[in-house]
Amino acid sequence: MMNPRIEAAFNEQIKFEMESAHLYYQLAGWCAPQGFEGMSRWLLLQKDEELGHAHRFFTHIAARGGLPKIAALAEPKAEIKSALELFREVYRHELLITNRIDVLLDLAHKENDLAGAEFLQWFVREQVEEEEQASRIVLKLERIGPSGAGLVMLDAELGKRGKAA
Ligand code: FEO
Repeated sequence: MMNPRIEAAFNEQIKFEMESAHLYYQLAGWCAPQGFEGMSRWLLLQKDEELGHAHRFFTHIAARGGLPKIAALAEPKAEIKSALELFREVYRHELLITNRIDVLLDLAHKENDLAGAEFLQWFVREQVEEEEQASRIVLKLERIGPSGAGLVMLDAELGKRGKAA
C-alpha cells in the first residue's frame, strides 16, 4: 500500500507537471505569430516532455496501488513582451519544479519511502538538464539583445530540437 502522504504529494506533482505543459503550450502560442517558429517548436516539444513527466508520476502511483488524480490547472501566463522575458519565465518555472522535486525527495526520506526516493532520482537528474537548457537560452538572449539577426539565428537553432543532425 502506498503511503498516503507520498500519494498526495505525488498527485500534487502531477498537477505541477501538467501546469508546466500548459505554460509551455501557451508560450508556444505566443511565439508562432511573432515569427519565432523555432522557439515555438522547442516549447511544443518541451510541453510533450512535461506531459511525460506527469505520466511518470501517474504510473508510479498506480503501480503502487494508489489513485492517480488529475486536477484542474491554473491558467498560464499569456502576456509576454519578448523572447527574453519568455525564456526567463521558462527558467523561473524550472527552478520552481526543481524545488518541488527536492521537497518530494525530502518527504520520501522522512517517510522512509525507499521506492519513492529511488523513483525521484530520475527527476533529480532531469532537473539539472532542464535548468541548464533554459538558463543557456536566457544567456544567449541576453547577449543577443534586441538584434533582429541574432534572434533569427537563435530561433533557427532552437527549431532544430528533436531533428536528426
Ligand atoms: Fe517536468 Fe521541466 O520539469
